[in-house]
Amino acid sequence: MKFMSIMEAMKKGKGKVSLRGWVYRERGSNQLKFIVLRDSTEIIQCVIDKDKVSRNEWEDADKLLIESSVEIEGNIAKDNRAPTGYEVKVSKLRVIHFAEKYPITKDQSIEVLADYRHLWIRSRRMTSIMKIRSTVFGAIHEYFRNNGFYEFHSPIIIPGGAEEGPTLFEVKYFNEKMFLTQTWQLYAEAAMFGLEKIYTIAPSFRAEKSKTSRHLTEFWHAEVEATWINLYELMDLCEGLIKHILHKVIKENKEELKILERDVKKLEPSLKEKFPRITYSEALDILKKKGMKVEWGKDLRTIEEEKLMNDYNTPVFVTHYPKDAMAFYKPRDKKDPRTAVCFDLIGPEENGELVGGSERDTDLDELIKTLKKKGENPEDYEYYLDTRKYGSVPHAGFGMGTERIVKWICGLDNVKDAIGFPRTMLRFKP
Ligand code: 4AD
Ligand code: MG
Repeated sequence: MKFMSIMEAMKKGKGKVSLRGWVYRERGSNQLKFIVLRDSTEIIQCVIDKDKVSRNEWEDADKLLIESSVEIEGNIAKDNRAPTGYEVKVSKLRVIHFAEKYPITKDQSIEVLADYRHLWIRSRRMTSIMKIRSTVFGAIHEYFRNNGFYEFHSPIIIPGGAEEGPTLFEVKYFNEKMFLTQTWQLYAEAAMFGLEKIYTIAPSFRAEKSKTSRHLTEFWHAEVEATWINLYELMDLCEGLIKHILHKVIKENKEELKILERDVKKLEPSLKEKFPRITYSEALDILKKKGMKVEWGKDLRTIEEEKLMNDYNTPVFVTHYPKDAMAFYKPRDKKDPRTAVCFDLIGPEENGELVGGSERDTDLDELIKTLKKKGENPEDYEYYLDTRKYGSVPHAGFGMGTERIVKWICGLDNVKDAIGFPRTMLRFKP
């Protein structure tokens, strides 16, 4: 008989089924053995009766420990007492592998689970998160492709920086010193002249010393760059993307959100309501009224972002940050030269910055001046500055940390759980 998934078997609901997977739970007496079988789709209770199987099969069943892999054949029927509402009465059992005693038991500390990540990754919790992550990635591709964007790939090994110098990882590259990329952006700005509307999802690297709940040293960066668009059109594009992702996850991952005990009601405003847009200066006024004074010119810190977000249940665009605190490519605002034409999208529920984006400076002299001011050598950026010499056009782009999106949507405490095998300053094994 052909194997089917547990989900398919439950849809079938009655009659003979053949299943294969892993033992999720087991208990037994000298007459009956109950195993909960899991595969990638679901879990299901299976009962093995000593009198209904061969002697060898019964002896094997008796030896089954958690995570042993098995194939079974049996009759499925509704059973309200079983964990997922169905039970299989087993007629045939074939053990593929007898697992050793599983090292992960109930109520393990976060650190132990992190050490056993290669095993914990198969837990229902991690599997649910990884399914949602897969939906998120699919939704990003779908959104950009539906909106006429080409997928473009930029190099991971690069000769110099783009964001903040000190967060670069060095790579020994034959006899040269190279770095791991923090962003595709500078190459995207070159490629954009041919393709006009481009996006990517690729790993970015930051040698972040911060041990926060939202920093990884290796994260998957969804980035976009497009010609002829301004800050406001860029924010529309960003909001559309986030709403599309939410729509897909809420539609396709109901079961996973339930397993994670995520209160979906908390996500619904972000699907339905327009994200507020405030300027950095307005944000400072709001904070002042809440008794938190921030000096104009300072970037917002986590506590300030969180205080600001207390009043919102959707992400909020904060625009026009102080020019001097921003990366060199963010242009000065002509109307308020102290500020740059940029935004950060701050997430609700203490999720912090989800997206950062801006128009790009097209003023060659200003770019060179800013690079020098930041202690960079403009010669290292020659290829980038060239893009401003041959048919320069207004353009804009943003970058979104996919793990931060997954963290928010799943309601996770730490971004480390939003990726299979996280990399942080302190955690890089397994
Ligand atoms: O704000 P960032 O540094 O912006 C850029 O890199 C731009 N060049 C992007 C662009 O315009 N193409 O990073 C963008 C986003 C942040 O908003 C955050 O979500 C995520 O990337 N991010 C991180 N996620 C996890 N761990 C880290 N260490 C991250 N650093 C940034
Ligand atoms: Mg940023």
